[in-house]
Amino acid sequence: MKTDCSMKTDYLREIEKQKPPFAPGLLSRAEKNRLIGRGFHGLYRWYTDRSQASRNWNPDRSFDWRTLGQSHSDELIAIVEGFYAVEQYAPDYTTELTHLARADYGRSHFQLRWGAEEEKHADLWRNILLFSRRRSREQIERYTDDLRASAWTLPFDCPIRAILYTVFQERATQFNYMNLAKVARGESDKPQFAGDADPLLAEACKVIAVDEAAHYNFFLEGARLYLYYYPEETLAALVDVLRNFTMPAARIIPNYDAFIKTLYDGGIFGPRQYAREVVPAALSLLGVESIRDVERGIKRTRRVPNEGGVLRETAIFDEKLDAPRGAAVCGVRFSVVEAAVRRLFDRIGRYEEEVGLSEVGRTEFVPHVWESSRRFDNISINAPD
Ligand SMILES: [Fe+2]
Ligand SMILES: [Fe+2]
Repeated sequence: MKTDCSMKTDYLREIEKQKPPFAPGLLSRAEKNRLIGRGFHGLYRWYTDRSQASRNWNPDRSFDWRTLGQSHSDELIAIVEGFYAVEQYAPDYTTELTHLARADYGRSHFQLRWGAEEEKHADLWRNILLFSRRRSREQIERYTDDLRASAWTLPFDCPIRAILYTVFQERATQFNYMNLAKVARGESDKPQFAGDADPLLAEACKVIAVDEAAHYNFFLEGARLYLYYYPEETLAALVDVLRNFTMPAARIIPNYDAFIKTLYDGGIFGPRQYAREVVPAALSLLGVESIRDVERGIKRTRRVPNEGGVLRETAIFDEKLDAPRGAAVCGVRFSVVEAAVRRLFDRIGRYEEEVGLSEVGRTEFVPHVWESSRRFDNISINAPD
C-alpha cells in the first residue's frame, strides 16, 4: 500500500507558518534537516569504516562450501529458498530507497553500501541451495526468472515512513536468520529439523545475521534523528508503519504463503515472534513505552494556544520529559531519544577526531528546543487521517 505523506507534510507546513517568526532557540525546518543530514553523513562515514574493517566477507571465499551437508530436510531447503527469494530483490530495494533519499548525501550513499551488503546475502543463500545439491543451477535460474518478473516497490513513499519500515524489517530479518542458525546448530526441538545440524550453515546464518544487525542499528539511529527533530511526524509515521507492516516482497514472491507456513511451523518466524521480539525491542530503543498511548495521543489531540495566541494541536510530552499527563500524552520517553542522539553525535565526533575530519568540519550535537521554551512541551502533532 502506498502511503503518500505529502498532504500531511503540507498540513504541517501550514502549521509551521503560524509560528511566531522570531522564536528564540527554535530550529527551523531547514536547520533540522541540516542537522539530520549531518547526523546521517557522520553515521554513514563511521558505518562504512566499520563495515570495511569487520564485515568484509565474501560469499564464495569466506566459506568452504564443499563441506556443506547434503541431507537437509525439505523444510530447511524451502526456508533457504525463501530467504534467497527475499534477498533477490536487492537491486529493487536499493534503487527505490536510494532514490527516496537522494537529496540526503549520507542516507543515500549508505543505501548503496547497504545494497552491496544485501546483494551478498542473495549470493550466499544461492550457494547453499547449490552446494546442498538440492537445487540445480537450471532450477535456480528458472526460479530467479520468476522472481525477477515482478519488481518490488516501496510500501511507503515518505522518507520517515521508509526508514521506520526498514527498522522493523531489518530486525525481523535478523531474527529469521538467528533462528535458522539455531536449527543448523542442532538446537531446534522441531522434528522436521532433527537431521539438519550443519556447522557451515550455522556459520553462514550467523554472518548474515550480523550484517542485518548492523543495518538495523543504522536505520534505528536514523529513525531516532527524525524522532528527535520531528517527533510529531515521526510518531504518526510509526503508528502508520506498524498498522501496515508486511515483510518485503510478500506480494510478489511465488508461493509466499507456503514459505511463511514453513517458517511458522518450524518456529523460525511468525506473528508471535514479531509481536514479542521484533516490535517491543525496536520500540524500546525508540523510547516508545506504549504504542497504544502514542496512538491514543494522536487520536485524542487537544488544541492549545502557542505564544502568538494561535491554537495548535496538543502537547505530547510532559515538561518533566517522561511523566504521563492526561489524555494527550504519548507513551514516549523522550529523554531516551535525546540521550541516544547525543551518543550518536559523540560517536561521530570521536570518529572525526580519529581520522582528522574534525579539523576541517566538526559534526556537533544541537539540542531541539521548542518555541514554548519549556522543552518537550507544546508540540504540534500530525494527526493521521
Ligand atoms: Fe539481507
Ligand atoms: Fe539487511
